[in-house]
Amino acid sequence: MPTSALAATNLTKVIGDRTIVDDVSFELRAGEVFGFLGPNGAGKTTTIRMLVGLIRPTRGSIAICGFDIRREFEKAMACVGCIVENPDLYRFMTGRENLEHFARMTGTANGEITRVAELVNMAHRLDQRVGTYSLGMRQRLGIAQAMLGRPRVLILDEPANGLDPAGIREIRELLRTLAEEQGLAVFISSHLLAEVELTCDRVAIIHKGRILREGTVNELISSQRTLELRVGDPDRAAAILADRGIEFTRDDHGFLLPLDESDAPPIIAAMTSNNIEVFHAARRAHTLEEMFIEATGGETVG
Ligand SMILES: Nc1ncnc2c1ncn2[C@@H]1O[C@H](COP(=O)(O)OP(=O)(O)O)[C@@H](O)[C@H]1O
Ligand SMILES: [Mg+2]
Repeated sequence: MPTSALAATNLTKVIGDRTIVDDVSFELRAGEVFGFLGPNGAGKTTTIRMLVGLIRPTRGSIAICGFDIRREFEKAMACVGCIVENPDLYRFMTGRENLEHFARMTGTANGEITRVAELVNMAHRLDQRVGTYSLGMRQRLGIAQAMLGRPRVLILDEPANGLDPAGIREIRELLRTLAEEQGLAVFISSHLLAEVELTCDRVAIIHKGRILREGTVNELISSQRTLELRVGDPDRAAAILADRGIEFTRDDHGFLLPLDESDAPPIIAAMTSNNIEVFHAARRAHTLEEMFIEATGGETVG
């Protein structure tokens, strides 16, 4: 089995008498985008600060590219690029000067600058001051900076924060490309459900410092599969569903069935062959959100 890019085991952080992160374990593989989804205050930033060595775990261990961060800190950190909270950029310097500055600090060859700038699609703006950049461009330059040491693991804290929809999409596409084409393991935290659903391969849901669920986006969604059905004659449709042994609940708009969209065609056929019009048959949207609300007992994410 290949070594995981990042493994956190029983990670716990106690500050004062509060357990901020509580027995959190997860693994990150090369080539995937992993999402850490939770509302504000869930413990996402605290977890990330432990992962990148800014604070020490109270209990538990972290291995990055197989290196335990307590025993082989430098080697572990050499595998990581990160942005915690906001990218550290000097606004009065150009993008290139910022990258040169960090390349010097990290002992990276200047030739790398062109490579990382191209990776994040910022080569054409590199000689302009960072102060003239949009937030999305600053975020991309921050990612370029994090990529300077050729990390295997990229860790970003709320990369979509404050971005407009176009900026969010650019970052999403960039992270997918870095994972798929560069084989990077990407870890992002977010309180935005839609962002995680669209960007990530796997998700852990964190709430009050604990992981409530973990799985692929599809697993989390399909554990809550619901087919919505809207028809012209609900009473007769109910009889047909009951005849076929299909469980259902009725709401104001029609039926909710514990089925996948791929189960819909025979049901639609049964309705139409009984002259019942079908207006709508589709997977219910926002199921990850519903699952999240159910898991957290009612708290919502954006
Ligand atoms: N240094 C600290 N001292 C005391 N409480 C803290 C500290 N850092 C974070 N917290 C608390 O821990 C909880 C989780 O914070 P954080 O990890 O920043 O959450 P998130 O990033 O998910 O919004 C919050 O209630 C926060 O107030
Ligand atoms: Mg945070």
